[in-house]
Amino acid sequence: MKECIIGIDAGTASVKGLLVDASGTIVATASAPIHLSTPRPGWAEQSPEDWWKATIQVLDTLTVDRNLEILAVSISGQMHSLVPLDAAGDVVRPAILWCDQRTQHECDELTEACGGEQEVIKVFGNPVLTGFTAPKLLWLRANEPDNFARIARFCLPKDYLVLKLTGRLAIEASDASGTSLYRVREGVWDDHILDVLTVRRSMLPDLVGVGSVIGAITCPDLPRLNGVPVVAGGADNAASAFGCGVEKPGDTVVSLGTSGTVVAVTATPNPDLTGRVHLFSHVTKDCYYHMAVILSAAGALDWFRQRFAQNLSYGRIEEMVGQSPVGSNGVLFLPYLNGERTPHRDPDARGVLYGMSSFNSQGDMLRAVHEGVVFALREGAESIADMGTPMTNVRVVGGGSRSHVWCQMLADNLGTPVWSPLVDEGAAYGSARLAANAAGIDTTGWVKLVERYEPDEEKGRLYTPWFTEYKELYQALRERFKTSARLVERRS
Ligand code: XUL
Repeated sequence: MKECIIGIDAGTASVKGLLVDASGTIVATASAPIHLSTPRPGWAEQSPEDWWKATIQVLDTLTVDRNLEILAVSISGQMHSLVPLDAAGDVVRPAILWCDQRTQHECDELTEACGGEQEVIKVFGNPVLTGFTAPKLLWLRANEPDNFARIARFCLPKDYLVLKLTGRLAIEASDASGTSLYRVREGVWDDHILDVLTVRRSMLPDLVGVGSVIGAITCPDLPRLNGVPVVAGGADNAASAFGCGVEKPGDTVVSLGTSGTVVAVTATPNPDLTGRVHLFSHVTKDCYYHMAVILSAAGALDWFRQRFAQNLSYGRIEEMVGQSPVGSNGVLFLPYLNGERTPHRDPDARGVLYGMSSFNSQGDMLRAVHEGVVFALREGAESIADMGTPMTNVRVVGGGSRSHVWCQMLADNLGTPVWSPLVDEGAAYGSARLAANAAGIDTTGWVKLVERYEPDEEKGRLYTPWFTEYKELYQALRERFKTSARLVERRS
């Protein structure tokens, strides 16, 4: 019998699972897509029952081989999304997701009731943001009072799946810290906000240690897994960082996914009082992380390619980018196609391609898109550095990290070596590591770094004036973005 663990990530697009052996080698993968519904513009909902069906399918697929001994299962998931449950543990209404934008009014109300934004950030580590959990509860109370009255308990996506597997409702610090109900620095729920929301403590999941065993699988749908321990996983961003070895202060991971993040581990849970950078609990002992979020990263390149360079393969694009010089012969790109979170917190910001002359080539435009995304990540990293958080050991993951040119640009701009890990399987691999650790397996050798990008100092010097220009360009357009947004609103 081969000893294995299973790591699952309940994402927004799919539930993904990995079967991993004790050495960290991936033995099998499975995933099942999840439907996202947008009942109104700006709303985003999913059915928790769909996540559950997908999870059963994934677990079934991963365990078809009867010669396996599954030592443990752990689940990570999308942060912030609210799953309301009735007294029988059934779902009251569809989950309201992290990317749902309906709650601005409720965010303002909660912020005021908790003493204003500075006070809120001090207590919860973050402003109350539209995607977070607490304002969703207030929205339900105001807009769906019957549903609100039926809520006996509530939780986040991964916690719902663990409930279905084990019968126990539990949450750990990394996900609790994205709810705006939890005092990140003290590690406890906040009674004041619960009072404001008229939410009883008994409605909250049990708070357990990340990596602890929540219970054993007791589920008729999964007879092959009955009795297997379920280990508390983490929020997807934390689990994903852990999956590539980002686990102690100084460790940092830059993700070049559809959106982009910079996650830097710290032992000092200082919140950013300007609200640009998130502070959440990490999945390693006594650690937290600062996170910068840019809303369009590799997504900006996909967008540009679809609109203006469909005939080009990603390989050819990389070649063309390599042929254009630093500064893209004067073309700058602001990648704010979906507004921006860090550092601007500006939903009205929009994409800009600036500075073209008749001299410029398609390669210059493509390079500008790459540089713009890297500049946005550099601004995110600078915002984290302003918090005094060191970023010494940097990894790069996500679809965009397959481009060597892009990774090199990142190293040149951050002024520090950047590594790419051998396994880039996101949060599911981090969950598998958490499950393995709980099963007594030493996972320190799991993370192998394969490619090292050394910063080129000369290039770094050349980038700096363009980076300054990039930052100034946003400042110059800031008010214009607002007027343009009003015009677009009027037209629609
Ligand atoms: C983090 C956030 C997203 C979700 C995606 O604040 O909103 O990264 O965790 O699943």
